[in-house]
Amino acid sequence: MKPYNVVIDFYTGDLRPGKKILRRVSDIKKMCYDEKAAEELIQNGDPLVYEAIYADVPEEEGQLGHCTTIIYPGKVGKEYFLTKGHYHAKTGTAEIYFCLCGQGRLIMESMDGDCEILEMFPSSASYIPPFWSHRTMNTGTEPLIFYCIFPAEAGHDYSTIEEKGYPKLIVEENGEVTIIDNPKRRNR
Ligand SMILES: [Fe+2]
Repeated sequence: MKPYNVVIDFYTGDLRPGKKILRRVSDIKKMCYDEKAAEELIQNGDPLVYEAIYADVPEEEGQLGHCTTIIYPGKVGKEYFLTKGHYHAKTGTAEIYFCLCGQGRLIMESMDGDCEILEMFPSSASYIPPFWSHRTMNTGTEPLIFYCIFPAEAGHDYSTIEEKGYPKLIVEENGEVTIIDNPKRRNR
């Protein structure tokens, strides 16, 4: 392949040329703490939770995949809109999330159960080391937009997070961003 540019709009997250995937509440229902609240949202129009727009790069070792992600403001029950969360299928691969707009949190868990939460804000560049799963949440009132760079062969393992969840939840309590223990956490 030859070198080429994509153009990223910092304020909308649009990446061109790119391939867009959409995730609605129905796509993340199993990841939500309050599945009943998720079901009600699904019955009321199934709102869009996030979009990711991927640059066209071969999924091969040596290449760098990159995409933007736009998480819309909103909550399922008291839990902020979130991404599905994943380990990389090739677990020993890192990733960088560079925040362009909005406010959020990045929750990560290592394979031996260490959990870390970082703030995301415009100009923050979060490093996700190899072997750490990752999920993002929009804790603000505007879209949370970030740019991701990862080894193109990394792949996604969504099922581990879908089955066991994270040790912590990030929710709104009394108008504040609050971290609580996840009562639905399952240990493998
Ligand atoms: Fe990733």
